[in-house]
Amino acid sequence: MGGLTYFDFLAKFGVGGAHPGGIHLTQNILSQENISEKSVILDAGCGTGQTAAYLYQQYRANVFGIEINPIMVEKAKSRFQTLQLPISLIQGSIEEVPFADNTFDFILSESVLAFVNKPKALQEFYRVLKKGGRLLANEMTMNRLVSDQEAAEIMNFYAVDSLLLEKDWENYLKSAGFQNIKIEEQNFPLSHGNQTPEFNFSTDFDPELFHILNEHGNIVIKYQDTLSYRIITATK
Ligand SMILES: C[S@@+](CC[C@H](N)C(=O)[O-])C[C@H]1O[C@@H](n2cnc3c(N)ncnc32)[C@H](O)[C@@H]1O
Repeated sequence: MGGLTYFDFLAKFGVGGAHPGGIHLTQNILSQENISEKSVILDAGCGTGQTAAYLYQQYRANVFGIEINPIMVEKAKSRFQTLQLPISLIQGSIEEVPFADNTFDFILSESVLAFVNKPKALQEFYRVLKKGGRLLANEMTMNRLVSDQEAAEIMNFYAVDSLLLEKDWENYLKSAGFQNIKIEEQNFPLSHGNQTPEFNFSTDFDPELFHILNEHGNIVIKYQDTLSYRIITATK
């Protein structure tokens, strides 16, 4: 892949709502929580900022974003500026969250935890959440184990060091100290994609990124019975 990754594709295509179910599933998950203009919320790995923008527009909440990819940061900033949204965005890693203990009422991780050091990031999420604060995540999850060769193909594409089953997520969350852990499967399969994709293309992009897009489609179809996602919620 010439050194380019799936994340280079997401960043250069400026994919908004780059998680299964897109913004509609996000809205549905948020509507089940007690969010108000008093809520302090971190969109962890916020990408181009679609969800962060919605959190302000819908709830007038105090919204913060953290994102590691500079192209994503630039596109999220431009979204917030254009829409004149008072959202604070920091370039950084969710493995070392640059906020004080007990800061947030909610942390959202929409397809981000799966791609990082999970114990490290979960420990950080737990630290910066207030007591009673909620973690809301939408993360890649295997329906069952696959062969070593199949696992290698998926891990190589997404550049991850592990593929988690539901019980693995549960164990990680428990080890980090979370309570009231719920892990829910959705009816909507990964292979249906995001029904309302949003793009903010960079003008300079390597045509190789189209191969990555194709490869992603192939992986999703090939593993449609095993490679899935779960909505994970938990309380500090
Ligand atoms: C699949 S995308 C999802 C983006 C966004 N949450 C959304 O739903 O549109 C994953 C995002 O996580 C970001 N990311 C990956 N590792 C990260 C880290 N360690 N800290 C912060 N962001 C990270 C990537 O740059 C990318 O924007």
